[in-house]
Amino acid sequence: MKIPVIIDCDPGTDDTIALIMALASEALDVKAITTVAGNQTAEKTAVNGLKIVSFLDKQLPVARGAEKPIMRPLVTAGHVHGETGMAHVVLPEAKNDYLETKAWDLFYKMSVESNEKIHLITLGPLSNVAIALMKYPHLKDGISQITMMGGAVGYGNDTQAAEYNIYADPEAAKMVFESGIPITMVGLDCTHQAWITQNEIESMGKPSKENGVWLAQELMRHIHEFASRFGFEGAIMHDPSAIAAVIDPTLIQTEDYFVTVETKGEHTLGKTVVDTLRVTGHEPNAQVALDMDRERFVELVKGLIQQYEI
Ligand code: BDR
Ligand code: CA
Repeated sequence: MKIPVIIDCDPGTDDTIALIMALASEALDVKAITTVAGNQTAEKTAVNGLKIVSFLDKQLPVARGAEKPIMRPLVTAGHVHGETGMAHVVLPEAKNDYLETKAWDLFYKMSVESNEKIHLITLGPLSNVAIALMKYPHLKDGISQITMMGGAVGYGNDTQAAEYNIYADPEAAKMVFESGIPITMVGLDCTHQAWITQNEIESMGKPSKENGVWLAQELMRHIHEFASRFGFEGAIMHDPSAIAAVIDPTLIQTEDYFVTVETKGEHTLGKTVVDTLRVTGHEPNAQVALDMDRERFVELVKGLIQQYEI
């Protein structure tokens, strides 16, 4: 049976590759895409979400969410994803509009009200999920699991301590970790092992036209160029790692830990604080991904992306 999922994202270059993968996967039933302010403004991530769905010729609802983090001003990542959020890529105008329904209402309608438990995959700041938790105390009855790209046991990438998605809205992330919903945290410890080399990118094919293969390769080349400035061997696939972990959980290795989020630190704001030595006495609240089987990950990405050449 396919896994019913909603993907909450802030496209975003690697979000786009993640969506390309998810929408090609036989394992997932993508019910909706919801967007949040993050890598770029709420307007830009929503427009990008709509354009991606149209470009890939898929029919599914796209709902907008939070315009900003729940308690802080928005910190975008334009230096990573470009002015539009899509690097140099220009997609045609979208054929459809977004829903009137807001992201948090859609989570509730599609899970609790419809009695179909949803696996929520989050690829951006957790503002939409936090608003849903505040508005709907029973939300957790409808969500089977949250797989999030976010956080790290070790060092950060937006600051020396914090990973971007958690740093951008730390109060929201803390609320999600405290929600009681089963969480898989796919953070930097795992995603920094999920790189794709230039040769692997080119081996994905020579697209006959501007299709999903073309889009994925263009964005991977961009990410590769950016990542090489930091000494990485290839394009780091953060958000695609979370999608891959849902499609094939055997790709990642996890440990169950108690995780909370620093919301006040001077140098550590937004850090996921992971109780690896089990000193707090708290029960684990997350499966924390520590390793990625890189070769099998690349095979999965390649297989999904090549669906768009058929
Ligand atoms: C995360 O931050 C964003 O810039 C990426 O899209 C990804 O979700 C990586 O830290
Ligand atoms: Ca993202």
